[in-house]
Amino acid sequence: MSLSFEPFKIKSIESIPITTKEERLNYIKEANYNPFSLKSDYITIDLLTDSGTTAMSSKQWAAIMDGDESYAGSRNWFEFESIVKEITGFKHIIPTHQGRAAERILFGVLGGPNKIIPNNTHFDTTRGNLEYSKAVAVDLPVKESLDTSLIADFKGNMDLTALEKLILEKGAENIPMAMITITNNSGGGQPVSMENIRNTKKLLAKYNIPLYLDCCRFAENAYFIKKREKGYENKSIKEIAQEMFSYADGATMSSKKDGLSNTGGFIGINDDKIAEDLKTLLIVTEGFITYGGLARRDLAALAQGFREVLDENYLEYRIGQVKYLGDLLTNAGVPILKPTGGHGVYLDAKLFAPHIKPENFPGQSIACEIFVEGGIRSCEIGSVMFGSYDGNGVFEPAKLELVRLAIPRRVYTKSHIEFIAETIIKVYQNRNNLRPMKITWQAPFLRHFTAKFDYL
Ligand code: F0G
Repeated sequence: MSLSFEPFKIKSIESIPITTKEERLNYIKEANYNPFSLKSDYITIDLLTDSGTTAMSSKQWAAIMDGDESYAGSRNWFEFESIVKEITGFKHIIPTHQGRAAERILFGVLGGPNKIIPNNTHFDTTRGNLEYSKAVAVDLPVKESLDTSLIADFKGNMDLTALEKLILEKGAENIPMAMITITNNSGGGQPVSMENIRNTKKLLAKYNIPLYLDCCRFAENAYFIKKREKGYENKSIKEIAQEMFSYADGATMSSKKDGLSNTGGFIGINDDKIAEDLKTLLIVTEGFITYGGLARRDLAALAQGFREVLDENYLEYRIGQVKYLGDLLTNAGVPILKPTGGHGVYLDAKLFAPHIKPENFPGQSIACEIFVEGGIRSCEIGSVMFGSYDGNGVFEPAKLELVRLAIPRRVYTKSHIEFIAETIIKVYQNRNNLRPMKITWQAPFLRHFTAKFDYL
């Protein structure tokens, strides 16, 4: 049966705020035109992130009530460790409170000055944690990923020619690890093929460089492999995930995505010595090795979430819902990154608002207007996040100017999706009224979270 409806029924509901346009104009101004600074009470539909915003199942809530809050050796830890080991095959599982804690601990051991760490595209916290350790983060996505209108199956792939060139130029001894982010979040939630993961491992093995997966959205990536890559049609999502992880020496995960829960993360790793170092850092900064900064009930919800995310009916609905929004927008002429990826629709802000230069943040301007028009919160992924000025004061824009409409898992229905599309189509029809912006204040790291903006 092909699924055109949500494969669940609703047991518990939460009312959402309905506001007037006049109120929203005030709210966004009060937030200094940064959607991150909006109060959630002002938001009708929240597409800021798919991270930690999942609706949990009745079985997860039941598991939470049955949580065993022992500091050490809680049964919820063993349930969590068992399912994560079953899927990933890693020898050591190290729990953390979220993905960036896993990154901080891993790069605390493997990062550091003069180290270079390539990725298909580093997510902003991954880059932030690496740079904070004084290592250099290098993005090597395939060229097709930069053409938002090109339809291709695996635009998340790593550029292997560029990877080998980097290794030869910088020296393998300076590259303690390489990463592949599945799916490639900053590149549009695009999947990475099994062939690309396998070949990346092969290339890295030649130079003795370990491969790590940033596997926040591993199940969504596995679903795309099943649907798009020859030879995987008849494999289960779990089998595909197991093969993906079999090529990796380790992984970091924010379980707030495909763990189908509201918090959590882990590091998976095979190397005993590095695992020991990581566990020491974990105990110093996160918590004991059987909870890692999490309440044990959260580990219980995660153990159940990891089982549910492997359900193909769920993934068909999930990926189908994102595609449905993409199709509604495309049919109305709204420029989006194509094809739609795993966890959201990304508007192409350069094509949406060509009259606004990258240094005046077209994506930010669109995100503010989408809020004003329909109370929908989205997130710029462009020059606010990745743009900078070089030493000579010349602006270096991001490679892409995007606005991400991240879809929380199992939260919104088909009619919510239709309302989102109607709102964005309206903003697109009035796009000539979108205004250029400037930053009036920013933090030195990860500025997009807290920056203040105004119109020029
Ligand atoms: N890696 C990727 C690919 C991510 O998408 C995220 C988070 C992280 C690492 C960090 O995990 O938030 O648990 O510390 N992404 C969220 C997002 C925030 O909105 O895309 P975290």
